[in-house]
Amino acid sequence: MKFAQRTVKTSSAGLDAIFAASGPNVISFAGGYPDATLFPEHAMQAAFSESFAQHSGSLLQYSTTAGYLPLREKLADRMNRRDHLNLKADDILLTQGAQQGIDLTARLLLDKGDGVIVEGPTYIGGLAAFDAYEPTYYEVPIEEDGMDITKLQKALMQHQVKLIYTIPDFQNPTGTVMSVEKRQAMVQLANQYDVVILEDSPYRDLRYTGENLPTIKSFDTEGRVISLGSFSKILAPSLRLGWLTAAPELLAALTALKAAADVESSHLVAVAVDTFMNDNDLDAHIDAMKQVYQTKRDAMLNALERYMPKDVHFNHPDGGFFLWLTLPEGFDMQHFMTAELLPEYNVSLVPSHHLYASKSIENGARLNFTNVSEATIESGIKMLGQALNDALHPAQVNQI
Ligand SMILES: Cc1ncc(COP(=O)(O)O)c(C=O)c1O
Repeated sequence: MKFAQRTVKTSSAGLDAIFAASGPNVISFAGGYPDATLFPEHAMQAAFSESFAQHSGSLLQYSTTAGYLPLREKLADRMNRRDHLNLKADDILLTQGAQQGIDLTARLLLDKGDGVIVEGPTYIGGLAAFDAYEPTYYEVPIEEDGMDITKLQKALMQHQVKLIYTIPDFQNPTGTVMSVEKRQAMVQLANQYDVVILEDSPYRDLRYTGENLPTIKSFDTEGRVISLGSFSKILAPSLRLGWLTAAPELLAALTALKAAADVESSHLVAVAVDTFMNDNDLDAHIDAMKQVYQTKRDAMLNALERYMPKDVHFNHPDGGFFLWLTLPEGFDMQHFMTAELLPEYNVSLVPSHHLYASKSIENGARLNFTNVSEATIESGIKMLGQALNDALHPAQVNQI
């Protein structure tokens, strides 16, 4: 059988490699999973039961592509309150997770060869979604405070670009947050060069220290920012429920594309999540999760401090799921993981290779701290430290 070119490209995106690096005896810092013990199972079960009781006759029926209105109203209120936006329910489209928002945006804008700017490194699932549309990538490095704006400007001056893809809050994979100045500058550049910005922010509500910065969308003066949110990290990923907000012209086109892709997101799930939000305080639930994740982040930083060799650097993210390791120049993390870390120490992480569109940077790695216990963080980081120490500083053997 001869598959379409897009299939060949997508399947080489490296997602499989990440999930292969887990198993019953493996300490995995690789996945991007929430802590399953924090899922509100009983409250969610009650919300589903109540949805059946209150919406008998319509709950299992088709709904609309935009999705259940009361939930979109709640999301608009929530973003207006927390993010100082000025949204109405009709500015929102429910999606099957933020992932579908990436796919729909790519489908809307990208013909084969079209230019898309991505952060280096970036979310591997974003690259997998874009790959299917066979774009030309321009990779702009991430700095401590987000995308390098000077290099972004240079890329926009030199190349035809249609889309900038950015994860401004607790970026996957580095955990960095884009500064306010850069958010403003990015919108100005997008206006100047007639580019759409895709602001993908599923970790925005998970800040453990400091104050959240205004969304990129809040600086949008020309209706060219598409913003994505998700219930995956704040409630549960199996709901497959997220949302997208965009100016009317973009939203209408994205809604038509969603109708063609999957008709609508699950009405059953949308009603149940709305009921959950009626009966429970979502923000209180998120606050409880944040306390657990903050403790895990601190445990990981503390262990890294004690066990990493001096020439291994790591950052201190203020929220999200991940932090970033930087190894000395020339170190091949992918090789180290498959040849040593996984077979000999049963520890896994995500090597930087697949997280760059250019596949050019080998000496970095993403570590997840949310889906591991504090005890596992301690033992796993200790082993990682030993393994890296052995690899970077092999003991001298004196021959007699
Ligand atoms: C940056 C980013 N965008 C999108 C997604 C997809 O999330 P969802 O489960 O909402 O589709 C993820 C999941 O890890 C992510 O990290």
